[in-house]
Amino acid sequence: SAAEKGGYASFMLKEIAEQPKAVADTLLGRVDGEGTLSLDEVRIPAAVLREVEKVVVVACGTAFHAGLIAKYAIEHWTRVPCEVELASEFRYRDPILDARTLVIAISQSGETMDTLMALRHAREQGAKVLAICNTNGSTIPRESDAVLYTHAGPEVAVASTKAFLTQLVACNLVALYLGQVRGTKWGDEIRAVVRELSHVPEQVGRVLETMEPVRELARSLSDKPTVLFLGRHVGYPVALEGALKLKELAYMHAEGFAAGELKHGPIALIEQDLPVVVVVPSPRGRSVLHGKIVSNIQEIRARGARTVVIAEEGDESVVPYADHLIRVPATPTLLQPLVATVPLQVFACELATARGNDVDQPRNLAKSVTVE
Ligand code: G6P
Repeated sequence: SAAEKGGYASFMLKEIAEQPKAVADTLLGRVDGEGTLSLDEVRIPAAVLREVEKVVVVACGTAFHAGLIAKYAIEHWTRVPCEVELASEFRYRDPILDARTLVIAISQSGETMDTLMALRHAREQGAKVLAICNTNGSTIPRESDAVLYTHAGPEVAVASTKAFLTQLVACNLVALYLGQVRGTKWGDEIRAVVRELSHVPEQVGRVLETMEPVRELARSLSDKPTVLFLGRHVGYPVALEGALKLKELAYMHAEGFAAGELKHGPIALIEQDLPVVVVVPSPRGRSVLHGKIVSNIQEIRARGARTVVIAEEGDESVVPYADHLIRVPATPTLLQPLVATVPLQVFACELATARGNDVDQPRNLAKSVTVE
């Protein structure tokens, strides 16, 4: 009903708007202003976490994209190798797991059958399983050794938005916590990033306030057959998520690519007026990658692409090559997906609406897939 949607035209719009609060609620009580992290709820003893030799993340759909981003944070802060796998692939290839493997199962609903089967298999092999879940008391957390709940609140729209952002928060918290527990050399940096996390709700709010040009752009592209997304480092999974949202909601052909792979194939797809969304990393963090992405934008634009560039505020180097420029606040590199995903959600939602689709109930999809 209209009342349930709180005045928004759809649950999806409402849930996109709720993201600052969802992120803040997921941080609440877990981080403080000093940069200390308390995750006592992760009831896997610190001694066990210190012995972990491998982390494996399993998930499906949007949650899988959160997992891909988690890998960058986990390997950076802990130096423990991390694999990320689609739950549906993981189970049936006889994966190598033992008591020193930490499996992280990410699921909004906590009921996705593929993810559940993956974690059952992992536990049978003696691995410890930590669930990242949005639904209290659901099956996946009940069957895990520990759970870190995301506090996005109920997500009704089939395509995930606010739950994804809170999964990113949870993944960063787990990575930083593992770093903290294992006492890596990053102590000060971990504290600095934990402090930065508290700014994310306000930063997401700022992105939401500047979305009118993105909506206009989406409407103007509604008759295009294809949109491509490019990103690098943590921007790569963001590109995959941007493409998935467009498929789910707008029923459009969309693909996400790692920008470094452009020259190995995807560049052949570039033609006059093809919209290409590029997620640009901060020029401060990994400046090498930044320079490379800027050349990618030049290359595709020289071949006629219509470039939609998502870049940090103050990054002037992209201005000459951007047909459309979307600004996001400056964040530490590993936190950029928290702000860069938001315009892509708005873009897909508006484009789908312009095509006359029901964004809350896209055709053929279910909110929670409880069959294998
Ligand atoms: C379905 C939904 C997706 C979701 C995926 C995983 O396919 O349509 O939005 O990302 O399931 O769901 P989960 O509840 O496990 O996060």
